[in-house]
This record gives sequence, structure tokens and C-alpha cells, in this order.
Amino acid sequence: MNQGKRVGIVGAGNVGATVAYSLAMLGSCHEIILRDNKIDVAKGKALDMSQAAAAVRSHTIVSVAEDMSDLSNCDVVVVTAGSPRLPGMSRDDLLMINARITKEVIEGVAKYSPDAIIIMVSNPLDVMTYVALRESGFERSRIIGMAGILDSARMASFIQEKLGYGGGQIRASVMGGHGDDMVPLPRYSTVAGVPLGNLLTDTEINEIVTRTRNGGAEIVGHLKTGSAYYAPARSTTIMVEAILKDTKQIHPCAVFLEGEYGYSGVVSGVPVMLGANGAEKIIEVTLDESEKKMFEGSCNSVRSLIDTLNKNNFFEGE
Ligand code: 2OP
Repeated sequence: MNQGKRVGIVGAGNVGATVAYSLAMLGSCHEIILRDNKIDVAKGKALDMSQAAAAVRSHTIVSVAEDMSDLSNCDVVVVTAGSPRLPGMSRDDLLMINARITKEVIEGVAKYSPDAIIIMVSNPLDVMTYVALRESGFERSRIIGMAGILDSARMASFIQEKLGYGGGQIRASVMGGHGDDMVPLPRYSTVAGVPLGNLLTDTEINEIVTRTRNGGAEIVGHLKTGSAYYAPARSTTIMVEAILKDTKQIHPCAVFLEGEYGYSGVVSGVPVMLGANGAEKIIEVTLDESEKKMFEGSCNSVRSLIDTLNKNNFFEGE
């Protein structure tokens, strides 16, 4: 039952609120604490969700942190806070704004929930995971970015759509950063254990790879004023549950690399074993030359964003 487990969620927008809702429906924890600058909105959503939990006889309570200090002693904290890209704002502008928000949030989390495992969801995801690691001072196993589960789920849904069958039996694999140069891995994707290459042509597989890379943008294109949240939130919930229940399941997650895959000092998406201690193990799968090249490209993109932060003296004074 996970009685007594507390999950903090910073940012009660679409993603944060949907994470809270799905955790409450699953009864994954005893208490969910929502933190948002719009306190009244958070209060309204928390009440609504507590009542939904009561409707399904879930024991989960949803409350609001009026101050960061109320976000105390959490087992897991999910960080979704961040600004969306506004007209006239460059990618670098957004990077700096969200890095500052992340810095402030993580300072509070580290102070009031010093034993928490932090799941980063804010974009640009891999860099925000890096910022959270630097600002928290936590060991790398406790700072994990959500993206690989989402990107793999998107790829699986596109495979199902292309095949017209296989739903629920598809295991798609995506590594690398959560950006345009993520690394979908058809070679490690299967339908009921059958390799994708036995079921689809190279052209069809390439179409799926491209659509996966543009998965987030495709949804923004439809919504116009916002981005996806059901799949991002449900993917986050999978991580929270794996940690709370100590399942030791392997999921693609963004973690700080210390030599794995030949990279250090950068965050990227790799298969990770999730358990009570966070990212307990990083799995190294064998990549062929072209996959290695794509992974390198993705790591370089993340590195260049970290360089932008450094050029703007973001970490100065630490
Ligand atoms: C997505 O991929 C915006 O990162 C978000 O939908």
C-alpha cells in the first residue's frame, strides 16, 4: 500500500496536475503535495483530486504546499515547473529562464526534502536534469529526467499505427536526449519479441523514427497553445511508482553519465534500473556505428546547452 509515502509535485500545470491525478487514482502513495505559484489554482485542483480519489476509494490525499517549506520529507519530488516558449523568445532565452526556475526550485527541494529522489520533467529536459544535479548536490542516482519512457511510448504507438496490430505487445526503444536528435533504436524494438525489421520495410521504419523525433512538435501543432501532457504525465507516474515500489524495472531515463557509453559530464537518456534508491544501475547496450554516431550527436547538443549556461555564468558562485 505504500502507506506514509509522500510525493511532492512542483508545478501544477497540465503535466504536474495529471501526474498527481494518475498517482491519486492508482493509490500509489499516501500523500501528494502540489506546489505552484498560483496557490488558488493548486488548491482547487488538490480538492478536486482528493474528491476523485475518494470516489475510487483510493486512500491518497492531495494537498497544497503554500510555501516550499511545506514540501518537506518527500520520498519523491517531481519537478514540472518551467516557462513555455513565448513569441520572440529564443531557445537560449528559454534555457536561461527555466534554468533559473529550476535552480530556485531545487534549492528548496534539497533543503526541505533532503532524502528525496527528484524526477525532472521541465524542458529542455536533459539540461534541466544537469542543473538539478549541480544545484542539489545530490548523488546522480537521485536526479533522474523523464523522457525516454515518453519517447518510447510515442514510438510504440506509431509502430502500432503503421502495423495495424500488436497493441500492448510492442517494446520500442529510444535513447539519447529529449530533443530533435533523440536516438530511436528500431534494432532494439520488438513486437511480441519479433524484431521490427521482420515486420516493416526500412522506409516504414524510417518514417516511424522521424515521427518519433517530432512526436512532441506534432502535438503542439494540433494544440497550438500548449504541449502534450497525458503521455508525459503517465510516463512520469511509471517512474514514481517504480521508485516507491522498488520494482527494479528497466526504463529509459535521463541521467548524468560518468563514463557510460564513453561520455562524462553530460546528461543523456539511457536504460536505467529504477528502485527505491533511484537510478540504481545504468545498463550499457551495444550500439552499432550509426547508433553511436547518433548518440554522440545527441550528447553534443546537450553539451552545447550546458556551454551556453556556462557562458552566461549560470553556475558562478557555487
Ligand atoms: C513533449 O515532448 C514538450 O517535451 C514535451 O511533448
